[in-house]
Amino acid sequence: MHFTSNSEYWSKRYNRQDHPWDLHRPSRPIIEYFTQLKNRESKILIPGAGPGHEVGYLYEQGFKQVHYMDFSDSACSLFKATYPNFPADQILSDDFFNHGGKYDFIVEQTFFCALEPSRKMRKKYADSVYQLLKNGGKLIGLWWNFPLDPPPSNPPYGGSKEEYLGLFEEKLTTQIFDTCYNSAEERAGKEWFGVFSKKS
Ligand SMILES: C[S@@+](CC[C@H](N)C(=O)[O-])C[C@H]1O[C@@H](n2cnc3c(N)ncnc32)[C@H](O)[C@@H]1O
Repeated sequence: MHFTSNSEYWSKRYNRQDHPWDLHRPSRPIIEYFTQLKNRESKILIPGAGPGHEVGYLYEQGFKQVHYMDFSDSACSLFKATYPNFPADQILSDDFFNHGGKYDFIVEQTFFCALEPSRKMRKKYADSVYQLLKNGGKLIGLWWNFPLDPPPSNPPYGGSKEEYLGLFEEKLTTQIFDTCYNSAEERAGKEWFGVFSKKS
């Protein structure tokens, strides 16, 4: 098993406060995307949510069907401590790859890049997204634009536009995949923003 598939690896990092991926605020591209939507009833899943700032923010903005997911107990505890009023039954302490359920949106932010950087695992992610989306549902979010080859020994693992599109376009339609124009300052110019919809 690749070390990133072990929830303990992530819990140890949270426990020693070694989580440099934490923006300490909601991610601007993600919240701006949702803020322009009129329908706040959508069922949203944010997998590998870690500190979960986007989950907490969207809930407070009226997206009452947003779901937090992380397989690390320490990540879940961190989220609960930060957002004590968030509904307990929408905190999913699950492995994304064993999860059932259907969502209108799946949100990607530094989850894909934390997975084993193999073709097999990336295909598994794309297949799981497809299974978890309702017909017409959307995968939206951010993917690093730096190359994967050679893969660094530790995450984050990047990729090329060709690879991402090749992966998702098997089952989803690309609506947007461009350099992100409203990234957090520390990520400016380093990520793609994508919206993919499930063919109905
Ligand atoms: C790099 S962190 C990013 C956290 C968060 N998205 C953020 O932007 O701060 C990756 C997260 O994915 C979680 N994770 C990794 N594999 C997972 C899996 N198979 N199912 C659920 N969570 C997973 C880890 O526990 C970790 O919290």
